[in-house]
Amino acid sequence: AGLNAAGKAAGLEYFGSATDNPELSDSDYMAILNNSDQFGQITPGNSMKWDTIEASRGTFSFTKGDAIADLAEANGQKLRCHNLVWHNQLPSWVSSGGFDNATLVEILQNHITKEVTHYKGRCYHWDVVNEALDDDGNYRDDVFYNTIGEAYIPIAFAAAAAADPSAKLYYNDYSIEWSSTKHTNAVNIVKLIQSYGVKIDGVGMQAHFTVGQTVTQDALESAIQDFADLGVEVAITELDIRTKTPASDDTLQQQSTDYQTVVNACLAKDACIGITIWDYTDKYSWVPKTFSGYGAALPWDDNLETKPAYDGILSALGSG
Ligand code: G3I
Repeated sequence: AGLNAAGKAAGLEYFGSATDNPELSDSDYMAILNNSDQFGQITPGNSMKWDTIEASRGTFSFTKGDAIADLAEANGQKLRCHNLVWHNQLPSWVSSGGFDNATLVEILQNHITKEVTHYKGRCYHWDVVNEALDDDGNYRDDVFYNTIGEAYIPIAFAAAAAADPSAKLYYNDYSIEWSSTKHTNAVNIVKLIQSYGVKIDGVGMQAHFTVGQTVTQDALESAIQDFADLGVEVAITELDIRTKTPASDDTLQQQSTDYQTVVNACLAKDACIGITIWDYTDKYSWVPKTFSGYGAALPWDDNLETKPAYDGILSALGSG
């Protein structure tokens, strides 16, 4: 069995992967991505973000996002739509627009309503707000918070819920996978949304980890439980575990163990419904472009061969 087949047998809704438009022309890559035995869910890594969808005010272009949505449909894979509101990959007409509160609320609502309506019925999940917290766990000093205040978050969720009542709506962030100020403040974001009487269905834990420094299973389980206690589900949304490159055999074994830790924690918690890796092969990972000297973060290597991490995940899912 592949990862998705094993994941479903173990009780997950899906095991999935991110992908991106430039890679869709790589036929060897596609042969694995298209296999719904391996991946029951895909996430567009870039093409549903604000700078792609509404690069200039009021002009919407869905072509790239549609390509990923069509692919998911053709393959019978669930689609995690990513994302509606984020400080990054935000066009400068928004980030430096100098809008007053009422105007920015209108821009935010219009963007969300148009995009969610376009994909209505096709998104299993929507990452409505992404990374609202900075590395210290405070609200990020971005245009949305500075202009509207924390109310931009429930406002965004309300607009998404109105446009597609059947999509599950997620708050998505990193470094919320263990007890910390940032984790606590992510819990507070869920409470904030609920206090407005607005729907939130889930929290995405991105899970961008480093080999040998991955969260422990106990810590991850308890972090998941804090969200479950508020009545929302949890998904692991962007899992990868990077290392210094080139990676030794020992490191690849440790990486396999680290992947198993994450899978075991998710399986141990009913609230944890699915796992997505942030692309499946080192060939297309974001890591080396962002962390110089680091990479090799995914279960398939640059040549699309499986690594020990792949066998580790399968065995944690009970099929290894
Ligand atoms: O599209 C332009 C292209 O026109 C230009 O020639 C090229 C030159 O650099 O850049 C292209 O844009 C790049 C874009 O990906 C599309 O490929 C950006 O430089 C690059 O920074 C961007 O990286 C993406 C990153 O988000 C941006 O923050 C990664 O691919 C994407 O995997 C990554 O995903 C994020 C999640 O959305 C949120 N969580 C963290 C995760 C990793 O950073």
